[in-house]
Amino acid sequence: MLSSTSTEGFVRWFRDSSPYIHAHRGKTFVVSFGGEAVADSGFPNAIHDFAMLNGLGVRLVLVHGIRPQIDARLRFHGIEARYHQGLRITDETALECVKEAAGTVRVEIEALLSQGLANSPMSGVRIRVASGNFVAAKPVGVRNGVDFQHTGEVRRIDVDGIRGALDRGDIVLLSAIGYSPTGEVFNLSAEQVATAAAIALRADKLVLLTEQDCNNGSDGKLIRQLTTGEAEALLKDEGALTSEELIPHLKAAVRACREGVQRAHLINRRIDGAVLLELFTRDGIGTLISRTPFETMRPAQVQDVTGVLDLIAPLEQAGILVPRSRERLETDIGDFVVIERDGLIIGCAALHVFKEERMGELACLALHNDYRGGKRGERLLEYLEAKARTLHAERLFVLTTQTSHWFRERGFEPATTDDLPKARRASYNAQRGSKVLIKPLKHPQG
Ligand SMILES: CC(C)(COP(=O)(O)OP(=O)(O)OC[C@H]1O[C@@H](n2cnc3c(N)ncnc32)[C@H](O)[C@@H]1OP(=O)(O)O)[C@@H](O)C(=O)NCCC(=O)NCCS
Repeated sequence: MLSSTSTEGFVRWFRDSSPYIHAHRGKTFVVSFGGEAVADSGFPNAIHDFAMLNGLGVRLVLVHGIRPQIDARLRFHGIEARYHQGLRITDETALECVKEAAGTVRVEIEALLSQGLANSPMSGVRIRVASGNFVAAKPVGVRNGVDFQHTGEVRRIDVDGIRGALDRGDIVLLSAIGYSPTGEVFNLSAEQVATAAAIALRADKLVLLTEQDCNNGSDGKLIRQLTTGEAEALLKDEGALTSEELIPHLKAAVRACREGVQRAHLINRRIDGAVLLELFTRDGIGTLISRTPFETMRPAQVQDVTGVLDLIAPLEQAGILVPRSRERLETDIGDFVVIERDGLIIGCAALHVFKEERMGELACLALHNDYRGGKRGERLLEYLEAKARTLHAERLFVLTTQTSHWFRERGFEPATTDDLPKARRASYNAQRGSKVLIKPLKHPQG
């Protein structure tokens, strides 16, 4: 039986994950991992995590590599693997090994996704896996006089085919091989297939599982987030990363983000539960790459209603904010500004304008508990003050029970309900006894 502390811990943990569950539902994630991950004893755990993502409504495309499995087969035949500029040369014998390795690994993954034994994490789960000829390829050809033979490049992704399978709730499994209209098979790299698939599907996330953390070469510390511009600068700088292995991953992430994928994540697959930790905890455990900055402040949209409700629910329960129904929030959402961090709403505030009295009400100012003290509250206030000025408001007021000093320190003065606009006075809740504070808004001269 759980002790009361662990019960509380569990409930808190589950509630903390709920915004991420809402945020990820219905989104398309392409996840790639090397053949090393498949050979690892911890791989069944990763499969359970993928199954759970599928269960939570994530549209999931898995892309697996087969490099170590190909090398093992070549060794078995006494043949040395041949590479030129980091790219495998796939001759006839190597191609046989590629086909064998792709077939075997694919079957192993499908078998793991088919588990459903009682007492296992996948008990009662029925997952359909769709795999097939979704990737068209063309030969790399001859470069610098070297014929790469059956090593290929992605030519096209069968977007309709993959979307159809995802619409049915299937997990799509792609191998690092492709087929040409001439009926040939080509050996591809897993990250190339994953990047091309993520771009073609306009995926929300490209998740690249790596063999190690993406650490900064100068201080050895994990790089938590990068814009594509910052990532490109790192790629130009030799020694900026602790390992060369990360370079193709980072390049893939940059390319995907530049071509429309919302976010790319580099995650060390050796950490148990790595994908869950990255996707369902506040700051994750990997490196996030995005085209726009990780955190933005912007006017709210109807799609933000759920995120705002999740954010303010604990403050409403604590009596700090007045409860708002979903319907009311949907009606008022145009008055809101939000701070979005990696797809999550972590801050919000609203401005309601009373034209006749030339006054604005600052309402529903809230920051997620984990992000307080970073001047975000102040930035929301400044943003709405500027907006109020453009809407010709001359004074800004706020009704507050527990935060009056925060406002006093930012230029608000105590006032009374008589100073409120007529309509607001009528709806003032005397029982709540909120303090009224008003700030005059300076307008530029002239
Ligand atoms: C008030 C709030 C929006 C401030 O956001 P924030 O991003 O942390 O704000 P800033 O970083 O700009 O300011 C932080 C400062 O405000 C202080 N502060 C926070 N809450 C305060 C309160 N209720 N009363 C007085 N000061 C407060 C902090 O102690 C900190 O001061 P310090 O740096 O001197 O220690 C945030 O704390 C919050 O969401 N609170 C709960 C909701 C709320 O009270 N909303 C207002 C409803 S009217």
